[in-house]
Amino acid sequence: MSELITSDRVVPARVLDAERLAAEAGFAKSCIAEVGRLLRTAAAAKPGGVVAESGTGSGVGTAWLHSGLGDGARLVTVERDEELARGAAAIFADDERVSVLTGDWRLLERHAPFDVFFCDGGGKRDDPRRVVELLAPGGILVLDDFTPSADWPPRFEGEVDELRLFYLTHPELDAAEVLTTPTSSAVVAARRQGARQT
Ligand SMILES: C[S@@+](CC[C@H](N)C(=O)[O-])C[C@H]1O[C@@H](n2cnc3c(N)ncnc32)[C@H](O)[C@@H]1O
Repeated sequence: MSELITSDRVVPARVLDAERLAAEAGFAKSCIAEVGRLLRTAAAAKPGGVVAESGTGSGVGTAWLHSGLGDGARLVTVERDEELARGAAAIFADDERVSVLTGDWRLLERHAPFDVFFCDGGGKRDDPRRVVELLAPGGILVLDDFTPSADWPPRFEGEVDELRLFYLTHPELDAAEVLTTPTSSAVVAARRQGARQT
């Protein structure tokens, strides 16, 4: 395994492995490196924590999370596409801190509460309330693939973006929307201490 250094930016070897797998599988929904570095930061902030991801894809986001994973942390990710899950699992087979599950995102629930949750496939749109409930107090939620909006409330394609508004104004979250590129953004949120536990 070797890392790729582009200008001053290091791309972890497992990210490169997962990107290769994505290319071979024709999978085009992997997170971008700007989001990846956000994921690494979130994982590094919880060195003994439970780090979760819904929607493994080929493992690009998983690999970024893994690059910040503490010795005492665990990383659990789930993917419903069996072939992608199998390929991603092979990338992390040598690290017992990592579990790649195959099936619906709700398989993650038995590993909650999460100290970091990259909600990227399942949950984000279909059960946002449950997504928040699965966070530990102080747990960090990352959601990517939003389109920056100059309006408040935020709009997407002319309509109020109710989903983004839900996360940004949830009473149990302190949330921020951050630009990941000039044309894309992510929501990063922390669950307040003292919030109701599942
Ligand atoms: C945006 S892609 C994930 C990209 C990946 N997280 C990354 O950062 O490279 C979304 C993935 O979620 C998976 N997915 C969608 N709905 C799901 C569900 N209900 N349960 C599990 N996986 C799901 C899709 O098969 C797809 O691979």
